Amino acid sequence: MNLNVDFCGIKFPNPTVLASGYLGVTGASMVNCVKNGCGGVTAKSLFMEERLGHPNPTVLTYPGGIINAIGLCGEGIKKAGHEFKIYAKKCPNNPLIGSVAGKNIKELIEVAEIMDTYPVDIIELNFSCPNVDDEMGRPIACDINTTFKATKAIRAVTKKPISVKLSPNVPNIGMIAKQAEEAGADAITAINTVGPGMLIDIYTRKPILANKVGGIGGMGIKPIAVRCVYDIYKNVSIPIIATGGISNGKDAIEMMMAGGTLLGIGSAIAYHDMKAFEMITNKIHEFMEEEGFDDIADLVGLAHHS
Ligand SMILES: Cc1cc2nc3c(=O)[nH]c(=O)nc-3n(C[C@H](O)[C@H](O)[C@H](O)COP(=O)(O)O)c2cc1C
Repeated sequence: MNLNVDFCGIKFPNPTVLASGYLGVTGASMVNCVKNGCGGVTAKSLFMEERLGHPNPTVLTYPGGIINAIGLCGEGIKKAGHEFKIYAKKCPNNPLIGSVAGKNIKELIEVAEIMDTYPVDIIELNFSCPNVDDEMGRPIACDINTTFKATKAIRAVTKKPISVKLSPNVPNIGMIAKQAEEAGADAITAINTVGPGMLIDIYTRKPILANKVGGIGGMGIKPIAVRCVYDIYKNVSIPIIATGGISNGKDAIEMMMAGGTLLGIGSAIAYHDMKAFEMITNKIHEFMEEEGFDDIADLVGLAHHS
């Protein structure tokens, strides 16, 4: 039975990929994900300069979801190369996806140029964090023309595969994915967090997050993510890293049937700890055996044929 995935010509030993922002900061934490069974990892998004992010509290879990307003804190692209080298040396068979962010298109291009020199296999373009506005006052992926313009500009500075990370907070994600494809994207990552949302502490009478609002991930967003991946699959012919609310193996299979080739694993780690990767891969294996599939590629997009 084949659980290997070919994604933009890059080989993954199984379809699970650490989603950006969860543990993907140091080389050691990414290596640890591989030791626990993930197929590949996405590093935390990086800007040009160091960013402190938003003040605490920044992450809360509640029944059904996880709300966060981390604000993309990080050490900046120039210092991150060291961590990527540690990872790439220890895990040569588990592809590394570097995630670039920027306050505007100019910064995104500059960060992508530096990322291109690092040992990353794929460059993910984070156009969709709901807590950090771009120069237009909203994430790039919330505007179809800006998505095209930014993707095309970054396409010009790297030959590595690029995956554009899209926002669910739009009425037409399939059309936005199509524009990214036409601008030269090799893949789509979907979805980033939903929202923003808010939780209020009834005793302090105040929003709980210091930033007041945050993006929502976790099991409650799975139906939104499945619909987004389905719409994207219908509109493009490039592969998808399906992400959002995958909390067990059944969710993962659902996402593949919607059109995901790889699976972004984020909240499942919050629910199941590092066991999540192996648990999900084992369930896919078990399902394929029960249902008579030999190749994992045969699951991708199945829900479109019925
Ligand atoms: C604490 C936290 C930090 C995140 N940081 C990033 C990030 O740096 N870059 C990015 O593209 N997405 C980031 N995300 C979004 C996740 O990668 C993912 O797209 C989203 O949470 C949906 O998946 P999930 O439901 O499995 O969490 C973050 C999410 C959380 C909860």
